[in-house]
Amino acid sequence: MDIISKFTKPLRGIITIPSDKSISHRAAMFASLTGGTVEVTNFSNGADCHSTLNIIREMGCEIEIPSEQHVVIHAQNAFKDKLDNYLLDCGNSGTTMRLFSGILAAQEGISATLTGDLSLSQRPMKRIILPLELMGAKIQHNAFKAPLYIKGVELFPIDYKTPVASAQVKSCILLAGLNTDGKTTVTEEYVSRNHTERMLKYLDADLEINGSSVSVRKSKLTPKNISVCGDVSSAAFFMAAAAIVPDSDIVIKNVGLNPTRTGIIEVLQKMGADIEILHQETVCNEEVGDIRVKYSNLKGITIEGEIIPRLIDEIPVIAVLATQAEGTTTIKDAQDLRNKESDRIKCLVHEMKKTGAIIEETPDGMIIEGKININGGCDVECYHDHRLAMSLYVLGLASESSLKINEFQWVDISFPEFLGLMTELTDY
Ligand code: S3P
Repeated sequence: MDIISKFTKPLRGIITIPSDKSISHRAAMFASLTGGTVEVTNFSNGADCHSTLNIIREMGCEIEIPSEQHVVIHAQNAFKDKLDNYLLDCGNSGTTMRLFSGILAAQEGISATLTGDLSLSQRPMKRIILPLELMGAKIQHNAFKAPLYIKGVELFPIDYKTPVASAQVKSCILLAGLNTDGKTTVTEEYVSRNHTERMLKYLDADLEINGSSVSVRKSKLTPKNISVCGDVSSAAFFMAAAAIVPDSDIVIKNVGLNPTRTGIIEVLQKMGADIEILHQETVCNEEVGDIRVKYSNLKGITIEGEIIPRLIDEIPVIAVLATQAEGTTTIKDAQDLRNKESDRIKCLVHEMKKTGAIIEETPDGMIIEGKININGGCDVECYHDHRLAMSLYVLGLASESSLKINEFQWVDISFPEFLGLMTELTDY
């Protein structure tokens, strides 16, 4: 599905942002480990989280979906069938493949092959294979890429310092540790998103946090219901759009405000955006709130270091924002962006250049000049990458002539509601 993005009207109104992808994945996976029944409300409609749901079904969970985004997971029979031939399709989802590898590696007597689509099959898996092998895991792989054949065995605890700040790597090791005798510890240089730690604690796992180290011991999780907050990474596209489209004024409700995810809000504040948190509460051990964003004059900034893992998925849309900010914006220390659903540095810079943006690729990020008129009036590609598709849509809102975004359907990976909500904000 190709779509056109163009400026129509300022964005105005109130929207509720749909479910957090990272938290939905974890809700389904951890529910499967409780041995009981867990009701998850506001579960993501995105294809990625449905890949996770299909996998836990394969592993013996019974799943009811009484209404949209409401999932009841019965895990009484999960992981009981010691089959040697599970074929588990992770689709486009790195979180599914990396976290499930940790779960399966520690499930004695079960073996399975984890596969993915073309993009996922090209993404690096060495980052999880090496620590799992240190724990004694048995994994066969295709030169450290998918498909991964994992034979569950008894593992040994490790004390591991991760070379990349990655929540997927951290979570993979912690999930293996959750079914391993002894204390498994993961230490990161900078703290990546901590939804795994928070949800495991909520479900009564034996878990301790010490600065940037997290330790877990073998634990039985308690089945408890989980309400998933809205995804700040999805909200980011609306925050950015309201910040750059003149006269916009929007409220985004139900946004997850876990500090390991709110780098985008700090960046907007530093750029001079008119952004305000209206109210905040804690739901299932995660902070949630409403955000108001109005159009304002932005200025370029440098983004680097510890904030990078806290906004890693928002960098494409930050690059779009930067085209409308006075001065230079420099993004550094973000080399891992090259390992996402696409090489987000190379692909984004290439497509933005076509539209007239002044943007340069660097090995670990990009440099963007603003404020400039984006000409648009061309076709852009999203490289099967949902976040590139939505970032380019926001760029279209600031372009003089419309942008045609090819294969926009990739948005469904995380945010099928995206276009509907954009329309809601201009339908007044
Ligand atoms: C995710 C972690 C991030 C992020 C991805 C989701 C997660 O990846 O890019 O979209 O749910 O743990 P890394 O942890 O590999 O940086």
